[in-house]
Amino acid sequence: MVSYDIPVIAGDGIGPEVIREGKKVLDAVSEAMGFELNWIDMPYGADHYLATGELLSEDSLRALSAYRAIYMGAVGDPRCPPGLLERGILLAIRFYFDEYINLRPVKLYEGVPTPLKDKGPKDVNFEVVRENTEDAYVGLGARVPRGRSRIEHELRRELYKVKFGLDIDSDHDEIAYQLMVISRAGAERVIRYAFERCKRLGRSKVTSVDKANVLTEAYGLWRDAFERVRADYPDIEAEYAYVDAITMWFVKNPEWFQVVVAPNMFGDIITDLGAMIQGGLGVAAGANINPSGTSMFEPIHGSAPKYKGLGRANPIATILAGGMMLEFLGEARAAEAVEEAVRAVLKEGRVRTPDLGGSSSTSQVGDAIASKAKEVAASL
Ligand code: NAD
Ligand code: IPM
Ligand code: MN
Repeated sequence: MVSYDIPVIAGDGIGPEVIREGKKVLDAVSEAMGFELNWIDMPYGADHYLATGELLSEDSLRALSAYRAIYMGAVGDPRCPPGLLERGILLAIRFYFDEYINLRPVKLYEGVPTPLKDKGPKDVNFEVVRENTEDAYVGLGARVPRGRSRIEHELRRELYKVKFGLDIDSDHDEIAYQLMVISRAGAERVIRYAFERCKRLGRSKVTSVDKANVLTEAYGLWRDAFERVRADYPDIEAEYAYVDAITMWFVKNPEWFQVVVAPNMFGDIITDLGAMIQGGLGVAAGANINPSGTSMFEPIHGSAPKYKGLGRANPIATILAGGMMLEFLGEARAAEAVEEAVRAVLKEGRVRTPDLGGSSSTSQVGDAIASKAKEVAASL
C-alpha cells in the first residue's frame, strides 16, 4: 500500500482541535481510497517552548526536510511575546524550506453566508498567490535607541535634520527601521507560478498587487518582474491593482478576479479580507509550497486563543488545507473527495460551527465531513 509519512505540528490555541478533525477526515479518505497516512506528531508550540526553550531548532528543521509535506494547525500564545512563536516556528518553516508560494484560494461555497450584498459562489471564486519569503518579512531591521554610539547618534541627528527638519535631541530620540526586500529572481518565480496556475485552472487573467506608486524601489522591481514574466503568456490577460484599491474591489467586484499575485505583506493582508468574503477565517485554507521541496499546509487563521478548548472553532479551513496537501502529494482523487465532502456538508447546512451561524461543535463538523468523504470516495 502507498504510504505517506506526514509530520504534524498542531501548535497552540485552537490548533490541536482543528488538526484533530483534519486528520480524521484525511484518514477516512485515505482508508476508502487505499493509501495510508502515517502521522508523526511534533510537539512544537508554546508548551514545548516554555518547557524546553526550543522553538524549532536547526536540527529539528533538518529532520523535517526528510518529508514532502507538513500539516500544521497554528501557533501563537498569550504567554509568549508577540511574534516569538510565529517567527520561530511558522516563518522558520516557510523560510528554511524556501516555500516561496503561499497559495490561498478564496472560494465561497454554496450555503455559506458572505457579508457581501448580492454576491454568491459564482462571484467569489479566485486564488491568491502570495510571495512567501521576501518583502518586509526578511527580518532586516533594527530599533536604535538614542546614543548607542556617538557616531551613530550624530548620523541619525543629521538624517532627521535633513529629512524632517527635526532635532532628535529634543524628543525624537529613538528610531526603528524595517527593510522590504524584493529580488528579481524571487519575484519572477512566484509570478511565473501564478501564470502557470492560471493556465492549469483554465482561467484567463492574472492581477498583480503592489504599491509601486509610493514604494517605487521595491515594488518597482516587482512590476518589472511581472512585465518580464507576462510576456511569456500572451494568452493570459495581465493587469495591475494597487493594494489599497484591491481591498475595495474585493468587496465591490470580487467576480473580476481569477488569480491574484501579491508580494508577501500585501498578500497577508488581502487574504484575511479574502477569507471574510468567503465566509470567514474558519473556512480559508492555504498551502506553503516549494514545488521541489518540503511544503506545509495550514489554515490561514491563527491560534484564536479566546476559543481554545471550547470546541467551537471551525475545522473546515484545516480540512481544506489537508485536501490541498493530498493534491500536492499526488492523490488528486482523494483531494477531490475532501473538497466535495466539505462542499456537501456546507450546502446541507445542518452541521456547522457558530462562526457560520450553527451550533455544532468542532468535532461534530469533523465527523460529518469524514463520513461524507467516505461516501464520496467510494463513488469516485
Ligand atoms: P486569529 O486568526 O487567530 O483569530 C482572529 C479571529 O478569527 C478569532 O478571534 C476568531 O473570532 C476568528 N477565527 C479564527 N479562526 C477561526 C476558526 N477556525 N473558527 C472560528 N473562528 C475563527 O488571529 P489573531 O487573533 O490575530 O491571532 C491569534 C494568534 O495567532 C496570534 O498569536 C497570531 O500571531 C497567531 N497567528 C498564527 C498564524 C499561524 O500560525 N499560521 C496565523 C495568524 C495568526
Ligand atoms: C499568516 C499569518 C502569519 C503571516 C504570521 C502569524 C507570521 O498572519 O499566515 O497569514 O504574517 O504570514
Ligand atoms: Mn495573516
